[in-house]
Amino acid sequence: MRIVALNASPRGWLGDTHRMIDPFLRSAQHSGATVRRYVVRELRIEPCNDCGACEVTQQCRIDDDMRRLLGEIAEAETLVLAFPLFFGAAPGPLKTIVDRMRPLLSPESSGASRKRRRTFGPQSVVMVAVSTSWDRGRFEPVCSWFRAVADELSAEVSGMLLRPHATAWSAMSEDDALALSITEALEDAGRELVLDGLVAPESEAIVAAPLIDHDSFVAFLSAVRADVGQCTTEAVR
Ligand SMILES: Cc1cc2nc3c(=O)[nH]c(=O)nc-3n(C[C@H](O)[C@H](O)[C@H](O)COP(=O)(O)O)c2cc1C
Repeated sequence: MRIVALNASPRGWLGDTHRMIDPFLRSAQHSGATVRRYVVRELRIEPCNDCGACEVTQQCRIDDDMRRLLGEIAEAETLVLAFPLFFGAAPGPLKTIVDRMRPLLSPESSGASRKRRRTFGPQSVVMVAVSTSWDRGRFEPVCSWFRAVADELSAEVSGMLLRPHATAWSAMSEDDALALSITEALEDAGRELVLDGLVAPESEAIVAAPLIDHDSFVAFLSAVRADVGQCTTEAVR
């Protein structure tokens, strides 16, 4: 299985998004997948200008990093979109990349029927998302968006790995039993994707499980923010 994974966190290799995809992709690789990872921030990709050329030629006219990336995505069986929740949505640069995937749709997809048939590109897609919010329900809008993207690409959704209150997760020591259970579930998810073609709902549930009760999380967050405020005030003085 060939996997292309896009990490849309501006914190790139240091953020919570990376902490989510690293065990998942490593395990997929150990199970036999070929994995190509990209940090979106490192790519130069312009927005789609709807010139319509791709509907005729299946090629995009814009000459930027999307050319190479689209070639990789077209040859992948699975596309992983990984990102932090930004104002209830995916970060803009990732949305730009998705918009630029239009050449993956076949020429027959345009026109009256709007029936989209895809000739090449990934057969399955996986979403990995992190947020600060305690409430897992905040992911609903991106889950709907992601299902729509899969539908446009005629691809199966093979997993949705969601990590609410990721801030509390990243504050935990790696040997904490709860933190370890998440890492192990992410590893299971990578193996399941390659061997079964689908992440098991049990792994998704462990990854998304609450780590702390709501009130304690609110107290934790105020303490973290007070600390950051303190640093900022001192830096300004
Ligand atoms: C511009 C911006 C918007 C954000 N919007 C949300 C949001 O709507 N809901 C939420 O729960 N977290 C929100 N966050 C918090 C991030 O999702 C959270 O810090 C995440 O863990 C960062 O992941 P990363 O370390 O991989 O970048 C936002 C952060 C930024 C910078």
